[in-house]
Amino acid sequence: MPTKPRAEVRPPAQIAVLAGVGEARAYRAGLSGSVALVPTMGALHDGHLEHIRVCRGLADHVLVSIFVNPTQFNQSEDYQRYPRTLEMDIRKCAEAGATGVFTPGVEELYPPAEPEVEIDAPELTGDLEGRDRPGHFQGVCRVVVKLLNVLRPDVVTFGRKDYQQLRVVQAVVRDMMMPVRVVEVSTVREADGLAMSSRNARLDAEQRTRALGLFKALNAAKNLVEEDGETDPGAVERAMQAVLRSHQVEVGYTAVRHPLTLSELGCVEPALTGGVIALVSGSVGPVRLIDNMLLGSG
Ligand code: PAF
Repeated sequence: MPTKPRAEVRPPAQIAVLAGVGEARAYRAGLSGSVALVPTMGALHDGHLEHIRVCRGLADHVLVSIFVNPTQFNQSEDYQRYPRTLEMDIRKCAEAGATGVFTPGVEELYPPAEPEVEIDAPELTGDLEGRDRPGHFQGVCRVVVKLLNVLRPDVVTFGRKDYQQLRVVQAVVRDMMMPVRVVEVSTVREADGLAMSSRNARLDAEQRTRALGLFKALNAAKNLVEEDGETDPGAVERAMQAVLRSHQVEVGYTAVRHPLTLSELGCVEPALTGGVIALVSGSVGPVRLIDNMLLGSG
């Protein structure tokens, strides 16, 4: 597993920076009152800061983990190119009111020569992101369980932007009977609708315009289902593909699914399923983006 040398970090005085697992466990043991955790891979934007704001209303202490998790990248180039802005991230966490940040190195969370462990929820991970990024969710599950076990938060937030990840983590936490409440945080969007993502930083101006195709595709699906009453999932999926292509977005997938189980639908009947979730993935140049929207819920 590739390890990057860690730059020296001078944190703002009011935030604890915890680099080691032992240090983080000791810090957590000394906290009285409730603790919330925001797990991140850094390159923090307003979407992450919204998680911190939500957590401040839910717990006495807010911890943020910043760890670019190698096991969830199925392409090592993607892992190497993932933006890393640790010093700025820590400053943003302090300004947003976080109490501490956990910034472990790779060998802290993945001690060398330990046997591999796999955690999975196969009914939820075999398709969509799981199909296009083999091993991704197994890496996510593994690191999330490690973070929850080290920091033992009462509350942990996951964004609806990574919708499948949210449902997978909820399933793992339920099935493993982990004593933590998973709170869903809404997607934060740019003024024109593009979902905030650390990957957006890699888009040039022209790609940034094309990337809006994802949001537009979801809006097309919303109109078809909510205004036109379309009930054929295939028709909605094809309409989303057409919008993505018209924006020169290379289509990964378009899907309309049950909002909790992510299972395929024979018929789009939002009133029966508590809404349906439309999901899209697509590449704009070298940047792979995802987004989703709940349709027919209201
Ligand atoms: O959503 C993310 O940023 C990551 O998948 C997570 C949950 C921090 C695990 O590495």
